[in-house]
Amino acid sequence: MEFKRNIIVTGGAGFIGSHVVRLFVNKYPDYHIINLDKLTYAGNLANLKDIEDRPNYTFVKADICDFDRIMQLMQEHHVDGIIHLAAESHVDRSIKDPFTFARTNVMGTLSLLQAAKLYWESLPEGYEGKRFYHISTDEVYGALELTNPEGIESPFTTKASSEHHHAYGTDFFTEETKYNPHSPYSASKASSDHFVRAFHDTYGMPTIVTNCSNNYGPYQFPEKLIPLFINNIRHRKPLPVYGKGENVRDWLYVEDHARAIDLIFHEGKVADTYNIGGFNEWKNIDIIKVVIKTVDRLLGRKEDEDMDLITYVTDRKGHDMRYAIDSRKLQRELGWEPSLQFEEGIEKTVRWYLDHQEWMDNVTSGDYQNYYDSMYKDR
Ligand code: NAD
Ligand code: DAU
Repeated sequence: MEFKRNIIVTGGAGFIGSHVVRLFVNKYPDYHIINLDKLTYAGNLANLKDIEDRPNYTFVKADICDFDRIMQLMQEHHVDGIIHLAAESHVDRSIKDPFTFARTNVMGTLSLLQAAKLYWESLPEGYEGKRFYHISTDEVYGALELTNPEGIESPFTTKASSEHHHAYGTDFFTEETKYNPHSPYSASKASSDHFVRAFHDTYGMPTIVTNCSNNYGPYQFPEKLIPLFINNIRHRKPLPVYGKGENVRDWLYVEDHARAIDLIFHEGKVADTYNIGGFNEWKNIDIIKVVIKTVDRLLGRKEDEDMDLITYVTDRKGHDMRYAIDSRKLQRELGWEPSLQFEEGIEKTVRWYLDHQEWMDNVTSGDYQNYYDSMYKDR
């Protein structure tokens, strides 16, 4: 079958990538979506069970660092777009093992860029109609200070903002904020962002970079705060709060990020950068209390019964204090708006994890890593 577009989504078996793949496969039956994923510990094909048999979907197990394989896939599938999400994504792991982060996030991105360059430059039309879209993070901007530790009424709101409308400072990361990464994770993402922009500036590749705030929602690996804590509360295990729990993160529902990616892939300006976020700042300890209350209520436990699971532990090394994204450019220029208010989003998320205990058990037992062998090996 001839498809209108052939798009590689890297990291499509991960948390955000699986939402992007699902959205594109469902919304664009005339696009061929090639999910290219190495299936590291973070990749889980069960995240895509509902769409795995669609005629416009192909899964390819491959490493983005494997230049020859990427080159071969570009040619075989006549790829005209890349949406690049594959990465090592967990800050705590980067502190223990920075090499893996440099390899995947920097060298892997470079290998994709170089394969796209050689393939697209070999075509008669060159870069026309092509797009290399790199998904990055707000962490590249460094950390903001907690200038208003008690919180102030936020000067900006979106549908995603919580009813509490708090900001913990008056400054925000804009697209002009100077890069100042602190962790090996954010340093590797910053480096990959620079390579992407260099390929535009040097070779004229049509690139786009976006920097998003913390995502939450279904299918997130339970090493990250929200799914880890939901699972621990359910099993009445301690909740390890780093430092004083005062650090601030800016939370966006994952499907709103996926919708932004769709919009920017199609309508974003080449060589431009867009920040993505919903003006929804939370201190860790406050969001943890909301999660405890929600889990207890949905499980029919006594109100606040599990508050004593909160356990303050040694802080993360170099722990960034506050992230807060200014996404007004994306709202102004492309009309993007988050669709879900935080209170709805967190309820939906907690309910999803409680209703999908089998998914969680598969991940925590390690069984999810056999899914590829059972489903794909002989295809
Ligand atoms: P994730 O860890 O859940 O998924 C990463 C995926 O990449 C996995 O499926 C993994 O198997 C795959 N992968 C890793 N190394 C690979 C390699 N060498 N070759 C091919 N595939 C490989 O990550 P996530 O949270 O979904 O984040 C996706 C992207 O979005 C990352 O680039 C991350 O930096 C960025 N981001 C994440 C957030 C967030 O809150 N999670 C926020 C902003 C930006
Ligand atoms: O800001 C975007 C980034 O958000 C993404 O680029 C990263 O890929 C993603 O992992 C996320 O990074 P964080 O470090 O902010 O997410 P994490 O869920 O690991 O932690 C959220 C906050 O909670 C952070 O301040 C550390 C704290 N924390 C985390 C864990 C796992 C705890 O206090 N205890 C924990 O056990």
